[in-house]
Amino acid sequence: MLPSIPRPLVVAAAVLCFYLCSSLLVAVAEAKERHYDWEISYQHKSPDCFEKLAVTVNGEAPGPTIYATQGDTVVVTVHNKLETEKTAIHWHGIRQIDTPWADGVAGVTQCPILPGETFTYKFVVDRAGTYMYHAHYGMQRVAGLNGMIVVAVPEGVREPFRYDEEHTILLEDWWHKSVYDQATGLFAKPFVFVGEPQSLLINGRGMFNCSNLAPATGTCNNSHPDCALPTQFTFVPGKTYLLRIGSLTSLSSLSFEIEGHRMTVVEADGHYVRPFVVRNLFIYSGETYSVLVKADQDPRRNYWATSHIVGRNPTTPSGKAIVSYAGNDPRKQPPTTPTAGPPWNNTAIRVEQSKAIVAHPGYVVPVPQRADRTLLLLNTQNNINGHIKWTINGVSHHFPVTPYLVSMKRGLTTAYDQRPPLDTYDHIGHDISAPAPTNGTIGSPVYRLAFDSVVDVVLQNSNALNNMSETHPWHLHGHDFWVLGHGDGKFNPAADTWRLLNVKDPIMKNTVPLHPNGWTALRFHANNPGVWLFHCHVEAHVFMGMGVVFEEGVERVGRLPSSIMGCGHSKGLH
Ligand code: C2O
Ligand code: CU
Repeated sequence: MLPSIPRPLVVAAAVLCFYLCSSLLVAVAEAKERHYDWEISYQHKSPDCFEKLAVTVNGEAPGPTIYATQGDTVVVTVHNKLETEKTAIHWHGIRQIDTPWADGVAGVTQCPILPGETFTYKFVVDRAGTYMYHAHYGMQRVAGLNGMIVVAVPEGVREPFRYDEEHTILLEDWWHKSVYDQATGLFAKPFVFVGEPQSLLINGRGMFNCSNLAPATGTCNNSHPDCALPTQFTFVPGKTYLLRIGSLTSLSSLSFEIEGHRMTVVEADGHYVRPFVVRNLFIYSGETYSVLVKADQDPRRNYWATSHIVGRNPTTPSGKAIVSYAGNDPRKQPPTTPTAGPPWNNTAIRVEQSKAIVAHPGYVVPVPQRADRTLLLLNTQNNINGHIKWTINGVSHHFPVTPYLVSMKRGLTTAYDQRPPLDTYDHIGHDISAPAPTNGTIGSPVYRLAFDSVVDVVLQNSNALNNMSETHPWHLHGHDFWVLGHGDGKFNPAADTWRLLNVKDPIMKNTVPLHPNGWTALRFHANNPGVWLFHCHVEAHVFMGMGVVFEEGVERVGRLPSSIMGCGHSKGLH
């Protein structure tokens, strides 16, 4: 019996189970290793009919969906076949408990994987839910290396909802400009922004109208097999579908909807939500949601599923997919014109939906009632020596060559900034509706958090240099946080702390939007030994410095694998 589990473990589990429950044994007994072998390479792809080099996993962009069960160990062997480019892959939403070196962030948790080299990621998926993966080296994510991770509940454990079948839906935005072209512009003087995307993709497919393209610009073919047909989903009348929706857009905030169908939101970033019904789901880069959709509309026709840009004045056509009812030609275009989506500049309806996301009553993770430390983080855009940067409390984050995890664990004190960053800014004096008055600095500092302490973070938005306030989806590595609240204008620590924060049933997430002209408050438990990036998930923004680094309990981290070393000051370390 149970041949693959070490005997002492089985005995321990059985003893525990005798006292506790039967589901534990089930969970322990069935924990598996899931092995993946990935070749990362550039391939010519035409996801929106325009041909471009894309970074692929085994020839595909997006890459394959990883399916696992809670408690499983996922082992991904990555062969870097990019020939002239390094890589690193992040498992977005997986907390990497006991494996902080497998988080996949070049400059923070590992040296990037060199062309020709092989690197193995091994980590436990400790919680059921919907997660994602993507490149975390330079701006490589923009070139297409991404995909989804679905972690099922262990057998015998019930989810607080029912459905017949499930689908994954990965949302992206897509540029015709190469990742190099985009990155070069962001670092150039004068600054050249990446601009708006040409297309929105649903499961890797879009449709750019090739006749809009000047002939000399590139190869575009509206009947190319990569793009000729939109993605299709089939619904059987009367059945209920669980749609696991994730966004890995580079820039865009999206609204997703299925014509004529209501969606019941049941999961966010791996946590059960108090169900609520929407016509359209607002989803920000780095977020995942599961929604239930009942196939309850006229089955004789097909329907549009669409993604629309919100929060920026869109010039990009909507993303489209076809939901067909069984028996119809799945490729037949619906008889209707796809809707235009909600008004892009209605921030209020987006804030309202953010506030509706609270924990399912049966799954509230009790929130510590007070924090040991509060970080008030002001997000500003600054002109630093002629370069446009984003800064957090005046510092624009620069990824050091030597990964922080190695530097901090091994005492390489010259590899990053020793000067501690500021816990706050002049929150009384700073006018958030004016562009930043100061220049700021560029640096690689780190917030050292007391191990096991409770930390509050208040993200404060402010106007950029163009005098507009943007949406910034903030993502925390290594943890889930409680979302305590979203507010308008400037956070007032005296008044807002108790009046506006939800300490009763806040949802836990790993990514949360900071809305225009507002603030977002979150709380987390600094109890995962390691070094963790916290950043805006807009790819251009993080590469303009919009991030900070947290360290907690690094002295408790076990021996680092030598495979994460070999760059910067970690050369020669074992
Ligand atoms: Cu999905 Cu550091 O990000
Ligand atoms: Cu941002």
